Amino acid sequence: VENVGILAMELYFPSQYVSQAELEKFDEVSSGKYTVGLGQHKMGFCSDREDINSLCLTALHRLIEKNNINLHDIGRLEVGTETIIDKSKSVKTFLMTLFAKAGATDIEGIDTTNACYGGTAALFNAINWVESSSWDGRKAIVVAGDIAIYGKGPARPTGGAGAVAMLVGPNAPLVFDKGVRASYMTHTYDFYKPDLASEFPYVDGKLSSICYLTALDNCYNLFCKKMRKDDPNFKGLLSLDGMLFHSPYCKLVQKSLARITFNDFLNCQSEDLEKLFPGMSEFCNYKLKDTYFDRDVEKAFMTYSQQLFDDKTKPSLHIARNVGNMYTPSLYGGLVSYLISKSPEQLIGKKFGLFSYGSGLASTMYSMSICNDMSAGSKLATLINSLHKTVSLLEKRECVDPKVFSEIMENRTKNCHTAPYQPTGSIDVLFPGTYYLVNIDGQRRRTYERK
Ligand code: ACO
Repeated sequence: VENVGILAMELYFPSQYVSQAELEKFDEVSSGKYTVGLGQHKMGFCSDREDINSLCLTALHRLIEKNNINLHDIGRLEVGTETIIDKSKSVKTFLMTLFAKAGATDIEGIDTTNACYGGTAALFNAINWVESSSWDGRKAIVVAGDIAIYGKGPARPTGGAGAVAMLVGPNAPLVFDKGVRASYMTHTYDFYKPDLASEFPYVDGKLSSICYLTALDNCYNLFCKKMRKDDPNFKGLLSLDGMLFHSPYCKLVQKSLARITFNDFLNCQSEDLEKLFPGMSEFCNYKLKDTYFDRDVEKAFMTYSQQLFDDKTKPSLHIARNVGNMYTPSLYGGLVSYLISKSPEQLIGKKFGLFSYGSGLASTMYSMSICNDMSAGSKLATLINSLHKTVSLLEKRECVDPKVFSEIMENRTKNCHTAPYQPTGSIDVLFPGTYYLVNIDGQRRRTYERK
């Protein structure tokens, strides 16, 4: 099989948000901390009407409906999430309710979990299946979704929520490059959810940002090495048209792009150094591992990489800035944002890098190329058109006062494990086509309806 990749995709984000500027006032932090310091504009959130099952059902149904997918043509359904409700019972089993209606039950795949990385792991499973001897000619769907919420305090403005659904198969317009995935996986307690009675993680925010950058350094260097095996002229960032990242908050992504240029600087041949990095030779003997807290390095390379950031990364942050960290879908929200910032003609033949990070930790850098044959071109145009419609819903959301947001969060926290439970959140406010929780019975069984 050739050109295995993404044939179609859909995104879902909640219909309500809180303004980060308003949240700064409400939290009594200095003005600019969330908007400038973290680079966030708005944060999407869900009331008790939505949970991980409803979020994934909404994204999946949208994908199926908009692309007229024949359910019998799907042989694999993968879910990536870190939002756990029934522990032993997967979200995938809930998604099967859509397929079972059509009598389609011969569908492999199940949930995959490790913080924000589960979506990427699920996607890799789908690609690997299509490229394997187990493949039966049908397509795969990958759904990644999460509700990212933190307890009161400095991490709360880095929440968000959403889900993405992707149709994977051969002859795709967005093709995964082969043999160049570069991973870095190790053990750390930077972010985890050991309290099963709470939706909130235990998080060491500073440590998690350092872990993210360490993972990035390792993945990027290995990725470049693998790319150079195929193409000895591969020049890292300069050979990529776009560079997309998992986005815990947008400022960290800008720092990450800067960090990539610092890696390029350290790897640069000394004879080219002054030409490519004028006036930066003072950093020549610096080591990656000693510079995670080095403000001079950070500042110098943030300034150096500003234009590269504006060209290659900033267009991918539209959804991240306006919805927040969606966890597993975050990187794929980046892909959607990047795609709708260009016309199909501008995208044909382009190559971009993607960095996926999940605390604890698992990370991979990989790359994607936009197919340059004409039949893929028309599929690309259809895909981009449909995404434009979805993303335009950002402007149709309801802005909620931080006080009301805080009460909704308290209601979620209080009732996280109440059963039986009748949700009280508004149904009117949901976008048409949204699944919502109707009831949790005494046995904690959940029922849903679609608006
Ligand atoms: N104007 C402009 N900038 C400001 C202002 C202001 N008024 N006030 C603060 N800032 C800047 C700070 O200088 C800082 O910038 P820096 O990162 O360049 O140092 C930034 O805003 C954040 O301020 P801090 O005081 O460092 O923020 P705090 O420690 O309170 O919280 C943190 C930030 C740690 C990211 C927190 O939100 C958190 O724990 N988030 C969850 C963890 C997370 O997202 N980790 C990332 C990877 S793991 C994952 O994806 C979950």
